[in-house]
Amino acid sequence: MMPRERLRIAVQKSGRLSDPCFDLLDRCGLRFRRSRDGLFCYGDGEPIDLLLVRDDDIPGMIGQGVCDLGIVGRNVLAEFGGNGDANALRGLRDLGFGRCRLAIAVPQDRVYAGPASLAGLRIATSYPNLLRGWLDRQGIGAAVVTLSGSVEIAPRLGTADAICDLVQSGATLIANHLREVDCVLDSEAVLVAADPLPADGRRDAIELLLRRVDGVTRVRGSRLLLLQAARDCVDAIVAALPGAPRPTVLQMDGEPGRVMLQALCPDELGWRQLEAIQRAGARELFVLPVERALA
Ligand code: PRP
Ligand code: ZN
Repeated sequence: MMPRERLRIAVQKSGRLSDPCFDLLDRCGLRFRRSRDGLFCYGDGEPIDLLLVRDDDIPGMIGQGVCDLGIVGRNVLAEFGGNGDANALRGLRDLGFGRCRLAIAVPQDRVYAGPASLAGLRIATSYPNLLRGWLDRQGIGAAVVTLSGSVEIAPRLGTADAICDLVQSGATLIANHLREVDCVLDSEAVLVAADPLPADGRRDAIELLLRRVDGVTRVRGSRLLLLQAARDCVDAIVAALPGAPRPTVLQMDGEPGRVMLQALCPDELGWRQLEAIQRAGARELFVLPVERALA
């Protein structure tokens, strides 16, 4: 491969991960100009470009050096590793979105009493390595039918008795009269990279990206809580804060005995939680969104 100065990241062109990926990159301050065919996005400002592709193609493209980084579900990464190419790729960060399960599902009216019920059946999947590994660990002999798409209709077409596919909301299963009965793998979006990482100018871009990704993911869903209270109430208020943050307590000018408290709460603060904090003695409560953080 020719040395390259610009970093290339592959993301899913359209699918479950696309919007949250674009949102993450946007929060990282990266702006792009899309090519006419919509497959390549040239980065303005930072030397970071995007390739928009099928998610299942991303590990292979990184393995071949066509791009350096990618965002895929852990399911895709794990399935690729099962091809024996595990050394070419490594996960850099779990991204906390795109949560789903690779699950076994059977037709609604089929009896399921544990993995043993799958013995001798045909199971359709796009994840043959992961499914085979799971079946082996359960000690179950079943036929794995590998399909590249539309796995959920295989039982109705009579080409399989059960399926092993991604489930997020469960809507696809319900629409196809299937029910989820076992979990093969819990998944979420992962930032993956070529292993070893490129050693040239792209290294700086990777470090910049990781710093910003960390700055965004660290505070995703966090809220900054500001409030005032009598100093005597601080212990009770701290006890009422969700997620046990360590707050900063500031003396208020000219008001002995009164403090201002600020705390970074890891979760959203609902009305009930706020009301409990208020009952503990807090006044003038403000809940602010947190966009990014830099240590
Ligand atoms: C998965 C899976 C189902 C759907 C399940 O596809 O194959 O079609 O998501 O989601 P639901 O439980 O919310 O209905 P994916 O988005 O990974 O697309 P791909 O199969 O084209 O890669
Ligand atoms: Zn896919």
